[in-house]
Amino acid sequence: MSVMTRMLAGEAGIVEAVEMLRHGEVVGLPTETVYGLAGDAFAPLAAARIFEAKGRPLTDPLIIHLPEAEWLDRVALFDSPEQQAKVEQLAAAFWPGPLTLTLKKNPLLPSLITAGLETVAVRVTAHPLFQEVLRRLDSPLAAPSANRFGRISPTTAEDVRRELDTKVPLIVDGGACLHGMESTIVAVTEVGLKILRPGPITREQLSAYGDVFLPDSDRERERTPGSLLGHYAPKKELQIIETDINQFFPASRSGFLAFKTPGQEIARKFAVMEILSPTGDLKEAAANFYKALRRLDEGKSVTLYAEKIPEEGMGVAIMDRLRRAAFGSMKSLSKNKEDILQESLLS
Ligand code: TXA
Ligand code: MG
Repeated sequence: MSVMTRMLAGEAGIVEAVEMLRHGEVVGLPTETVYGLAGDAFAPLAAARIFEAKGRPLTDPLIIHLPEAEWLDRVALFDSPEQQAKVEQLAAAFWPGPLTLTLKKNPLLPSLITAGLETVAVRVTAHPLFQEVLRRLDSPLAAPSANRFGRISPTTAEDVRRELDTKVPLIVDGGACLHGMESTIVAVTEVGLKILRPGPITREQLSAYGDVFLPDSDRERERTPGSLLGHYAPKKELQIIETDINQFFPASRSGFLAFKTPGQEIARKFAVMEILSPTGDLKEAAANFYKALRRLDEGKSVTLYAEKIPEEGMGVAIMDRLRRAAFGSMKSLSKNKEDILQESLLS
């Protein structure tokens, strides 16, 4: 479906968003992490439109957004009183904010949202505009990041337009996202807190609320489909520099994603450069990550290189996205190469 995309801000944006959502439409909305493509969680047609606009496989479940923890029982159930107590503790500590919990699904929720899973991913967003839309609509909203499947996540309204122009009727502009990186996803299990996707709420922060661990195996990781390698990918080839950067010689006309301000000798090796945080601040680096990657992808360099980021605190989430972006860029490149080969065989 092809439509004219409108962009509104403030009260006008809220009013129009609620109106469209009531009619089963999808709307690009700002959150404190990244922009989301929102639809009424109880309108299966809206969910179908989300999958279609993103080009997302129906096997990849959506995150539900609430304005307050008191709405949890509309979409989720608890396995046990212990689990409920743990969720209440986590909610008091981190909600509203960038923490998504996976819980048992309320059977009333359409199963298209959860891709048939018996669990549902849910969070309380801290963005005042998103919260206001939720309260006026009086229904939870499903909202994946507002990018085409596998591509760079949007952190401004303009990014959403570039990703989904003509596929979404309305984008509400709420400025740049605070964190710039998707929420931390955590499964609340009997044995502790399992991080399914690293994000702004760090392992260190979570460890005050129980034993924290990572998925046991790659297979288990695969079940969080957003954790597939190959997400967040630029169109250009992106390589992470694994060796000493002083000894590294990039291809000509290359772009550099630097963690902090590099020395002159390093800067001189690259045609274009984006610095995530001049002083090496991990939060600032995360907030700038997708924007910087997008600018490099749209700029005039040919090949992209990224510096490694210290894997502590927020750096864990940034490196996670960077690895997937690098892998995804290779995948689409080899696909392009196959296409080129195919075309040359046909002609
Ligand atoms: O910060 C965020 O979480 C953003 C904003 C818009 O809220 N949303 C977001 O949604 O990142 P999305 O769809 O791009 O990523 C959601 C991830 C996917 O990897 C999906 O597989 C996973 O959450 N997910 C959803 N439901 C799940 C479930 N029941 N169990 C495990 N993973 C789930
Ligand atoms: Mg996403």
